[in-house]
Amino acid sequence: MENRWRLMSGSPDKAPGIAATVTPDLSLFTDRVPDPCALIIFGITGDLAHRKLIPALYELDRGGRLPSGFSIVGVGRKPIDRADILEKLRDTAAKHVRTKPLDSATWSRFSDRIHYVSSGSREAPLKPLVERLASLETPDITKGNRLFYMATPPSAFPVLLKQLHEADLIHPAGSSPWTRVIIEKPIGHDLSSAEELNSLIAHHLDESQTYRIDHYLGKETVQNILVFRFANAIFEPLWNRKYVDHVQIEASESIGIEGRGDFYDGTGVLRDIVQNHLLQVLALCAMEPPNSFQADDIRDEKVKVFRALRLFSPYDVDKNLVQAQFDGYREIDGVKPDSITPTCVSMKMHIDNWRWQGVPFYLRAGKNLDRKVTEVTFHFQSLPICLMGREEVCNRIEPNILSLRIQPNEGISLRFASKVPGDDIHVGSVVMNMNYESAFQKPIAEAYERLLLDGMRGDATLFARRDGVEASWQFIQPILNALEEGSFPMASYAPGSGGPVEAERLINGDGRVWHRSGV
Ligand code: BG6
Repeated sequence: MENRWRLMSGSPDKAPGIAATVTPDLSLFTDRVPDPCALIIFGITGDLAHRKLIPALYELDRGGRLPSGFSIVGVGRKPIDRADILEKLRDTAAKHVRTKPLDSATWSRFSDRIHYVSSGSREAPLKPLVERLASLETPDITKGNRLFYMATPPSAFPVLLKQLHEADLIHPAGSSPWTRVIIEKPIGHDLSSAEELNSLIAHHLDESQTYRIDHYLGKETVQNILVFRFANAIFEPLWNRKYVDHVQIEASESIGIEGRGDFYDGTGVLRDIVQNHLLQVLALCAMEPPNSFQADDIRDEKVKVFRALRLFSPYDVDKNLVQAQFDGYREIDGVKPDSITPTCVSMKMHIDNWRWQGVPFYLRAGKNLDRKVTEVTFHFQSLPICLMGREEVCNRIEPNILSLRIQPNEGISLRFASKVPGDDIHVGSVVMNMNYESAFQKPIAEAYERLLLDGMRGDATLFARRDGVEASWQFIQPILNALEEGSFPMASYAPGSGGPVEAERLINGDGRVWHRSGV
């Protein structure tokens, strides 16, 4: 295959894309058309359904990726006219679909698939749903396959699962027609509530029917971590403690709390981003090669990483973690005036296994920062010996950095040293950059498109498994216990800034600096 990496200097973010060749017979998975089914969305009137699920389903329909026998049944508490709900869904979809403007003909065809039912009586809350499904589950429409989506606040999950069970809407595992249930994050508020919810899920569903969403896993660039690592022979030999000095994983957001003060104050950055999204990304970066690309082989390896995370003692929390709130956070509606919920966290952690012993992983995440970027950077070790004659030259040669840019400017770049053209030997840093979208000349799909499709196809690879969720909580729980006891300092930072100075000190103290994208 032709190598089209492009050597350039300066910021990779500004680099034009490069063409890539795709060898058609190298597809790992065929584009399997999903089975006909009914997608039942609990919480259709909510934000998630409006801003993410319906736009993603519209895109799937637009691309001809939905089966012809496919219906959406939205379930809400109040009786609402179908026309009213369709109008609201259309208005929000117009703002959030990936391909704008919304195409009227496609929307009209797509919206014909959407139905709405409200809850029934207290004794038989799902009776209207049962009746509607009966009218759709003909052999030529959904064939009886049911994909339930819990797009509701987590407090509703247990009740809904019980109601589904009582209404006899769950087909047994392994049967045809099938039943699958997609459950949105958060899975629990802490380790014990996650275990409790998982036990309740297990009471009603088989693990093979349970699809726990972490939308980061649906991002193209997160999926590409595995392809990059295991479809290239040259990186894997370097992917360990012998060559990697440290790894940084960053998820900075420029948005603030966005009217979700109450929710966020009970959650905080550790529960909202670190326990799920960042630990999932870390696991994909750190795991051993799986036996195959099958769902359980990949998930087995991820769980091993979670189990190898070195647990924080209160001493480690003090020494290796900085929590912070942005100025003005406590004045936000719904946030307690004496809140101790962090909106930003930076931490140094370790994976105690053969591959990564002694290599620090620095994580940072936060809201209301100066940029939106999610990125993993592998910082390679410095030169073992100075061959340039002069120590001060060698000291200035920057170590190699491999960046996996999850979003935005999705792509991969590699920094290395090069001779600057001229009569003398001057060494400069250059960056080879691959921009995902322009390399493949294809738009990048939204995570929910892929995840919804996989739910319909029955592919659980990109969904979190019970043991993985609990193992990641096992790591986070001692940190939460220490912080929520209330005696650790809370740093502050100005909204729109680069974060607290204490976070700089955390990494500078180790003789390292936070990576800034494009450097
Ligand atoms: C969600 C969090 O899971 O992820 C939000 O609840 C956060 O607080 C969002 O803003 C970030 O997702 P993305 O895809 O925009 O990086």
